[in-house]
Amino acid sequence: MAKIAFLGTGNMGAPMSRCLLKGGHEVTVWNRSFDKAKALEKDGAKVAGSIGQAVAGADAIFTMLTDDKACRDVWTGPGGVLSSAPKNGAIAIESSTVSNAWVMELAGLATGKGLRFVDCCVAGRPDAAEAGVLHVFCGGPKDAVAEVKEIVKPYTKSFSHFGAAGMGNAFKLIYNVMGAVHVAALGEAMQACEAAGIDLTAAANAFSIGNTNSGHVIRHSKYMATGKHESPVGFSPKGRIKDTMYGVEYIERVGGQSRIGRAAADVFGQAVDVGMGELNDSELIDALRKVHAKKS
Ligand SMILES: NC(=O)c1ccc[n+]([C@@H]2O[C@H](COP(=O)([O-])OP(=O)(O)OC[C@H]3O[C@@H](n4cnc5c(N)ncnc54)[C@H](OP(=O)(O)O)[C@@H]3O)[C@@H](O)[C@H]2O)c1
Repeated sequence: MAKIAFLGTGNMGAPMSRCLLKGGHEVTVWNRSFDKAKALEKDGAKVAGSIGQAVAGADAIFTMLTDDKACRDVWTGPGGVLSSAPKNGAIAIESSTVSNAWVMELAGLATGKGLRFVDCCVAGRPDAAEAGVLHVFCGGPKDAVAEVKEIVKPYTKSFSHFGAAGMGNAFKLIYNVMGAVHVAALGEAMQACEAAGIDLTAAANAFSIGNTNSGHVIRHSKYMATGKHESPVGFSPKGRIKDTMYGVEYIERVGGQSRIGRAAADVFGQAVDVGMGELNDSELIDALRKVHAKKS
């Protein structure tokens, strides 16, 4: 069993840490807002008051944080992971959904400090993290990835190794652009059904059994039809825009196109414009209702 430092115990990091604890690992948690880390003490976590304390002697150091800025602060900021002399040969594991440019920069910085580096993104909502059924997308050297695969088993439903450092993140960004497109298209479709006078429960059922039945559509169409959304918030329009734009930038840099991704980010932007950027992404239907009520 591994000695793990888990940095960032938000909506995803907390249930992921609980799974690692249930799997028998020794897990020390740290979070910027201390109370969220402290709440994991009852699950058996050791709680660190500083990043340095969390990573001391760890075999594996995970971050599960908002965005590039948060990760940069935690890895390279004053008192951050890379200034804390973590154990030589420990594995630095970036699990946050961040830009590919940051992941590649961090891979260089971490290996320069004698750490091994693996990017290890996850797909699935906080409830999937709690249930230990996340899809894991990894990049990095084979030996380190094999070790990470064993470590993350307690929260893994499927595990894919996409190649060298950065490639797990690359796949996750492309995957998330597609996910954003599904949710944005569903929001528009459900609002269009309502405008046309079609019953939303009937629409959600039909979308969920027809050829439109992606995981996003099956889950989110119910939320949109019933008006009952995840609590606490599962993932927000602001988060969708962040992920989608990291993805669009990456796709266009490597020579792909992402016109539909850009359009999806634009649709989520409408939720931000009406003050709903931090609610659930499934509440997009309410945002579109507001946008169209203003117009009529
Ligand atoms: N939610 C999902 O469905 C989902 C699924 C897969 C992947 N993801 C990705 O997983 C990551 C975490 O998502 P989440 O849903 O767990 O978000 P969250 O609940 O908002 O948690 C964000 C975490 O980042 C920390 N943080 C933010 N800025 C920071 C800074 N400057 N310095 C230190 N810590 C900072 C927060 O600390 P505080 O508690 O102090 O604010 C918190 O621990 C994101 O990259 C997201 O895109 C999310």
